[in-house]
Amino acid sequence: MEYILVREQYEPAVALIQLNRPKELNALNTQLMQELRDTLQQLDKNDSVRVVIITGNEQAFAAGADIKQMSDKSAIDMLVIDQFSTWDQIRRIKKPIIAAVSGFALGGGCELAMMCDMIIASETAKFGQPEIKIGVMPGAGGTQRLTKAIGKAKAMELILTGRFITAEEAQAYGLVNKVVPVEMYLYEAAQLAKEIAQMSPIAAQLAKEAVNRSFETHLDEGLSFERKNFYLTFASEDQKEGMRAFVERRKPDFKGK
Ligand code: CAA
Repeated sequence: MEYILVREQYEPAVALIQLNRPKELNALNTQLMQELRDTLQQLDKNDSVRVVIITGNEQAFAAGADIKQMSDKSAIDMLVIDQFSTWDQIRRIKKPIIAAVSGFALGGGCELAMMCDMIIASETAKFGQPEIKIGVMPGAGGTQRLTKAIGKAKAMELILTGRFITAEEAQAYGLVNKVVPVEMYLYEAAQLAKEIAQMSPIAAQLAKEAVNRSFETHLDEGLSFERKNFYLTFASEDQKEGMRAFVERRKPDFKGK
């Protein structure tokens, strides 16, 4: 891997992926996104990992898709390269993913953070979709995910002006789970990841899938999807263990089976 660093057991059952193109503020070129996709797919199959954290560095989570790589491409080049198809595969990762964001999360960087399941931000984080300033528009989910996360009025404002918002504003708008001092953001993300890693991984994956379904479908279909996933958890030993432990007043030991 050239552009990402991976620590499979950053914490027990928690993997950490660090985007690692610091000189370019972690601009997301196609190779970086392919490496990220491949790593996430491997971690998704790895039973010793239950939750994944994606982070950058203090200065930047990611400052967007790599503008230099795209600048002289034609529409047909873009269509043929179809660089955002890797993003569809990342969207299908089943395990919970937490974005630990410090510094710039712009354009594709903001879209990548939003594609994760939760965002922990440092006080220094800045979110935005500044594509309009370089004559384009968000292309990796920004118009959809930002609108769903913060509502039409604010999403329009950010996407049409290219303005950035602070971590505090992002939290007030519901984009971010928690804002902490810069020296704490990775620690805080790890605490959240460790808490989730103690749950049944089967129940966590089915629940993640059902929550995401709420963005893709009508209430009736979403409720029926949720119900089927709920019933499916009863096929797991973790469900028996979890409910038995409750009755026996002890802590459950979830095995992911
Ligand atoms: N692509 C390629 N290189 C980038 C980059 C990007 N998105 N963002 C920053 N860099 C590079 C800069 O070119 C610079 O490299 P050089 O030193 O070799 O010139 C280096 O990173 C440091 O950047 P700056 O000198 O610009 O740092 P700054 O602190 O003055 O400004 C910034 C920081 C405000 C984030 C500014 O770099 C910036 O505006 N970046 C572009 C943000 C942007 O427009 N993102 C959207 C990209 S398009 C997109 O993402 C489409 C999509 O929907 C997926």
